[in-house]
Order: sequence, then structure tokens, then C-alpha cells
Amino acid sequence: MNEIITIDGPSASGKTSVAKLVAQRLGIPYISSGLLYRAVALMCLLENASAEEIEHRLEKHRLELKATPTQNLVYLDGHEVSQALHSLEVDQIVSAVAVRPAIREYVNQVLRQIPPPFVVDGRDMGSTVFPQARYKFYLTANPLVRAMRRVPERGAAFDTVLAEIMRRDEADKKQSAPARDAIILDTSHLDLDGVVRVVLEHIAPSSGPPEQNFS
Ligand code: DC
Repeated sequence: MNEIITIDGPSASGKTSVAKLVAQRLGIPYISSGLLYRAVALMCLLENASAEEIEHRLEKHRLELKATPTQNLVYLDGHEVSQALHSLEVDQIVSAVAVRPAIREYVNQVLRQIPPPFVVDGRDMGSTVFPQARYKFYLTANPLVRAMRRVPERGAAFDTVLAEIMRRDEADKKQSAPARDAIILDTSHLDLDGVVRVVLEHIAPSSGPPEQNFS
């Protein structure tokens, strides 16, 4: 397998967990593209700078993503910052970072340098960054279900998390449309294993009993 598999979807749709497990089962790396936007948002927080200001300073920073089959490590100027990328503070400003075309171009260049095979999750991986990918999936889920899934990760109240998810759905709408050739999966009523099974079934259909031929 030397393919690129894209798994896009809105925040808390489960795409990162699904991408990790699919990659593990296939024995290939997974890449979370959102981490790169989060790292740029962290730059803003660390430098007390706006997204617009950071856009002009990207070249001063060194951003690296190291992918393993089980996790992604993000290094900012040589320091590992992965743990700091999932705070509510980063959640709150990352959309303002991700709408800036020059920042998107910067992140896309980093992504396109990664040699396949890999599973990559994001918003526009199938539509824009890797339109040539052989397998494209788009996960959706009801916002209430997504908020319930995210509360334990954030340690914040349900209402706060739900409001943040709905605000981000709106802010990220532009870059979040599914690729025209993506397989769309509503995961509201599926658990993680269920989604992974459906995705793997599309990539490597199990050889069931031979089809009967009536001709
Ligand atoms: O998937 P995530 O929640 O880690 O993404 C963080 C933010 O980055 C999210 O607000 C949308 C944005 N993003 C994007 O615009 N394009 C991507 N390919 C990935 C993430």
C-alpha cells in the first residue's frame, strides 16, 4: 500500500481517532493536519500576536511534524509542543489562524512534502491538498454527539464545549466542504470501532463468499 487516505470532517467528528486506528491497522503513519494550524495558533499566544502579524513572521519559526503509526509530535523551534495544542485557548483562536490563505499555503506545503503512504485527517485534505488521493472519507456527526465526545478531553462544561463546536463549524465552513468524490459517513450512531470497520471495508473489502452468477 503506497496510498494517501484522507479523512476530513468538522471538529470532534472523530476523524483523528479514526485516522489513527485506520493507520495502525494498515501499518502506515497518520498525520493530523489540524495540529499544524494549532501550532501556528500557539505561536500567536506565545508571542501575544494576531493571526495577521504571525502570517508575516512564519519564516522566523521552524515547525516540524514527526509522524509515527501511533502519534504525531509537533516541534516549534526545536521544542516539543504537542501537549499545548489542545487547550480551549488554542481552540478559540485557531479558526482565525486557519482562514488566512498564506497560513493555509504554508501548512499545505509542509503536508505535501510528506512521502506516502499515510492517513491524513483535516478539513480540506481530500478536496484541496491531496485531490489525487485514492481513498477519501468525510465524517459527520450531530453537534450534540460531538460535544459529548469532546467534554472529557477538554474538562470543560458541556454547554461551553457545544458553543465552541458550533462557533467553529460556522467559522470553518469555507474550508470544510467534502470533496465531491469523498465517501460521507455519519458517525452519530456508530462507535469508534464501527467507523474504523466501515472505512477499512472500503479500502480493503473483505473477500466474502463468491457472488453467484446466474447468467
Ligand atoms: O481538526 P482540528 O480540530 O485539530 O483542527 C484545528 C483547526 O484547524 C480547526 O478549527 C479547523 C482548522 N483546520 C483547517 O482549517 N484545515 C485543516 N486541514 C485542518 C484543520
